Amino acid sequence: MVKKRACIFISGNGSNLNNLIKKSREYNFPIKIKLVICNNAKAIGGTYAKKNSIPFFVVDTKKRDFENKMISILKIYKIEIICLAGYMKIISKNFLERFRKRIINIHPSLLPKYKGLKTYSRIIKNREKKAGCSVHVVNEKLDSGNIIVQKSFYLQASDNELSLKRKTQKLEYLAYPEAIYKIYKNR
Ligand code: GRF
Repeated sequence: MVKKRACIFISGNGSNLNNLIKKSREYNFPIKIKLVICNNAKAIGGTYAKKNSIPFFVVDTKKRDFENKMISILKIYKIEIICLAGYMKIISKNFLERFRKRIINIHPSLLPKYKGLKTYSRIIKNREKKAGCSVHVVNEKLDSGNIIVQKSFYLQASDNELSLKRKTQKLEYLAYPEAIYKIYKNR
């Protein structure tokens, strides 16, 4: 099978990146990770790229043309799909045009509920019964593109932000690979 050439965008811990790197070693997994891009030089996630000898680029988002730089790096590595995994920057319209329907994201809530930031604290505050994660296509509107995979669980009365995060991320490690499989299943 010819695997698609993927780039993972990160900003922080990179636990989803680490999980996808592991998954991509499986024979049938549809993508191989050819590049990691990060907007934060101090991101712990960068160590996973380095440890696995995956080219790793830090972009300076204070520079006006940083996205053009990203686009040229993505071209050099012939990237076919971009997976956002905790990437904390909004993707511009121009960038989206270049990679239409080829950028996906994972979000720690049952979208369309709790778009945006601070999802865990809002979910706990609202005493939600259910929580979970969503993998979706990225479009112009924040956390609003078509949902590819969603996974949920019931909250316990004793759950707090920390336990909610732990449980949600555990599901994310299943949901992201599953979404990638689903995208390429019939292609
Ligand atoms: C994930 O929980 C994801 O839902 C959100 O950012 C977090 C990134 O975590 N978009 P990590 O960097 O993969 O550990």
